[in-house]
Amino acid sequence: MVLPRSTIPNHFSINETHHRITQIKMITINNLTMGFTNRTLFKDVSFSIFPNEKIGLTGPNGAGKTTLFSIILGEMESVSGNVQIQKNINIGFLPQEAHFDSARTVMDEITSGDDRIKNLLDEKHNLEEQNKADTGRYGDVLHELEQLGIYELEHKAEKILAGLGFKEEDIHRPINNLSGGWRMRTLLAKLLTYPYDLLLLDEPTNYLDLNATLWLKEFLKNYQGAFVLISHDRVFLNDVTNYTIILERGKMTKLKGNYETYELQKNLQQTYLERQQKVVEKKREQLERFTERFHAQPNKASAVRNKRKQLEKLETIEIPAEQRSMDDFTFDQIPQSGYVVMRADHLSKSYAEKKVYQDLEFEIIRGQKVCLVGPNGAGKSTLLKMIAGVLSPDAGTIKYGHNVSHGYFSQSRLDVLNPERTAMEEVYAASPGTQATKIRSLMGLFSFRGDDVFKQVKVLSGGEKSRLILAKLLINPPNFMLLDEPTTHLDLDGVKSLTNAFKKFEGTICFISHDLFFIKEIADTIVEVDAGKIKIYPGGLDYYLEKRQEKDAILKDQRRQERIELEEKKRKEDAKEDSENARLKALQDQHKKALKRLSEIKQLMKDLEKESQELETESYVKSRALQNLYESKDGEKIKEFGQRLKYIQARLREIESTIKQLKEERDRISK
Ligand SMILES: Nc1ncnc2c1ncn2[C@@H]1O[C@H](COP(=O)(O)OP(=O)(O)OP(=O)(O)O)[C@@H](O)[C@H]1O
Ligand SMILES: [Mg+2]
Repeated sequence: MVLPRSTIPNHFSINETHHRITQIKMITINNLTMGFTNRTLFKDVSFSIFPNEKIGLTGPNGAGKTTLFSIILGEMESVSGNVQIQKNINIGFLPQEAHFDSARTVMDEITSGDDRIKNLLDEKHNLEEQNKADTGRYGDVLHELEQLGIYELEHKAEKILAGLGFKEEDIHRPINNLSGGWRMRTLLAKLLTYPYDLLLLDEPTNYLDLNATLWLKEFLKNYQGAFVLISHDRVFLNDVTNYTIILERGKMTKLKGNYETYELQKNLQQTYLERQQKVVEKKREQLERFTERFHAQPNKASAVRNKRKQLEKLETIEIPAEQRSMDDFTFDQIPQSGYVVMRADHLSKSYAEKKVYQDLEFEIIRGQKVCLVGPNGAGKSTLLKMIAGVLSPDAGTIKYGHNVSHGYFSQSRLDVLNPERTAMEEVYAASPGTQATKIRSLMGLFSFRGDDVFKQVKVLSGGEKSRLILAKLLINPPNFMLLDEPTTHLDLDGVKSLTNAFKKFEGTICFISHDLFFIKEIADTIVEVDAGKIKIYPGGLDYYLEKRQEKDAILKDQRRQERIELEEKKRKEDAKEDSENARLKALQDQHKKALKRLSEIKQLMKDLEKESQELETESYVKSRALQNLYESKDGEKIKEFGQRLKYIQARLREIESTIKQLKEERDRISK
């Protein structure tokens, strides 16, 4: 039987049960349509946001995700439709990119930079001046301040800043002295410190390294309010969201469940449609065969007519083709450089009183794909900028080898793009004299189609800016590429194409990235930057992680050995103890033992927590890699990773229960 079109289940629509409808809607979006001049971004979009929903919003670069936030916030007018916002709700917003200037220190900005707090404190001050501290309003003001958590603000902020990777000394630095990435982190910390009913977060992980990302993941999992989180990181979305909004081909669909659920439902629908298509085609063949066979027989005329009618009514089932937002590309042949590409000698660099590098020696050779890793603020971007020549060292030299041409992808992309130019002018400037048709076909590769090439840089979306810089690198490729977080802002197809292109690139690359998959695929050398020194690991990401684990294991072994020796010594001393003090001694012993056990428990818990953190990291890395493996259909690896992930889950549960037992024991002893 062929189902009429209307009965094809739409797995993507949300079933708003009665219970949900009676809940208060914080935001209601009605038939929203948005676009610019010749292009519609989305049409007739309707959905609501309820309290406590943790929503992931995802879709290709330039689809209109950031634009949707701007409309909700009243910064942009939609073409038609409207957004209703419940009265008196507090909405917090983290923009995708921001130029955030402030002479305050990070901590001051957080504790007194919020308008709600500022107004209340002003009012409190005024009431005190007017001797109205005994009025009802004064009491209300104090109550509201308490509700905003003013008395624990500093304590809370410290925790959040530490989680996001701020060091103690940075917390008291003026924001104007921080790099763009750290300013964004300050904005994020501020949003997380105050209570909001709804957070709108536009790609919050773009500026975070792995540890901070993992911390944010935990924070958002336990977040009290609702949020809408834009991200291209599926693993991150899977872990923190319980609703998903997909913006694709002008449609926005909200569904219950995380990204994984969406993919599952999409596959189900795909299978369903494929099956339906087969049924319809079979029916079509049968009907056609019948009409062909009997069309000349007068006694079958009515039956043939009937079948023809049925044929006309038969619907074609269209299966939406997978559309990539960016196709694969390759770099043109590049002129070969000399063997030594770059040499740094006696390099020193300080910021104010802080020494970042002293007397650094470093060499990069032809064809090397070097990834700089290291903790926050270690100076990775500083080193890359010095190599790129956009920042001068205080002392020492950087020399390029024979026939080296370099290109730089800056993290704060506006260093290398002029906001007033059009996209096409930007590419042309990178290679003057190139024919317009060549530029346009190259830009098409990066999804600048038709009139898109005439858009001004300043209106481009986050991902479109990244794509534009890549187009500039591609038009006249240099043989030495310096890339600071090149995958940031790119959607999944963008990252895929970029990874493939750099894998095949024959020149030399020195890059910084927090995208583990990208590092794994590209790097053949890892350079660890820490405390002004560098350490070179002549291998890829796996090699580096292995070496690090070995180092940790050696340290652990050393500690265990020391503990054993100490216990042995203690035992011998104990044996020698005089027996007449036995009773006193026994008491003392008991006390000592208790103390010793307490310190053991502390150490054990520390070790377990560290192990758990490492496993969490590994699980995150492997889950990410797994997503890509599914696409490449590498059965062996999928199985191997799957098993390892299962083991990690089990071990994490085990650790959790051991920690619980240890805590109980600790409490018992302390009593
Ligand atoms: N003022 C404007 N005039 C013309 N086009 C604009 C304007 N503002 C934005 N756009 C275009 O609208 C589209 C949507 O932009 P938006 O920033 O919402 O995308 P996005 O989904 O957030 O993408 P990304 O993932 O790259 O951040 C982009 O193609 C952008 O170039
Ligand atoms: Mg955006």
